Amino acid sequence: MSTTLRFLPPAETKALRAAVLRTGPLRDLPLGGDEVHGTLALGAFAAAGDGTDKLVGCCLLVPEPAPAEIGVHGPAWRLRGMAVLPAYRGGTGTALLARALEIAAQGGGEVVWCHARVPARRLYERAGFVALGGEFSEIGLPHLLMWRLLGPPGPDAREP
Ligand SMILES: CC(C)(COP(=O)(O)OP(=O)(O)OC[C@H]1O[C@@H](n2cnc3c(N)ncnc32)[C@H](O)[C@@H]1OP(=O)(O)O)[C@@H](O)C(=O)NCCC(=O)NCCS
Repeated sequence: MSTTLRFLPPAETKALRAAVLRTGPLRDLPLGGDEVHGTLALGAFAAAGDGTDKLVGCCLLVPEPAPAEIGVHGPAWRLRGMAVLPAYRGGTGTALLARALEIAAQGGGEVVWCHARVPARRLYERAGFVALGGEFSEIGLPHLLMWRLLGPPGPDAREP
């Protein structure tokens, strides 16, 4: 599914994140990340057929120190809110993640980490993340702490 990636205001991802990440019994649970100063939001957009495009996937990069057990104390980004509409899955998540990692590195990050839902583990492993510790429950779902180091910063952090 062909999509275009670009930044958007973090709050504009909220409806999509709610639709994908707060289904069923999770419906009333809050979503986090977009309220943090310095958070970047990356969107995947698909042509809507009328000359416009629509948001079909997103993720957030939140400036948040890595948990102590990771043992990396430099600038850190927390990846949050990875969500793709079902009809647009199959490569979109990988593309969002790859671009987010580039942006995080260009933004001077040393490490990126996330609380990954267990079914998404391979998505992150393919992008170089490793799991640390065992599964834990968050919002009633099994999660893993996953992380990876980032490459050296590039010239421009703001052009997806
Ligand atoms: C996770 C998600 C963004 C991946 O989008 P995508 O476009 O299908 O991603 P890709 O095709 O590039 O990668 C597929 C990987 O997504 C993960 N995945 C597939 N279905 C999933 C699901 N229902 N829930 C979570 N992760 C899933 C798997 O790791 C899969 O890799 P595998 O095929 O080797 O097992 C998308 O499935 C989604 O929005 N899921 C629901 C929300 C969610 O779980 N977000 C992740 C929170 S950490």
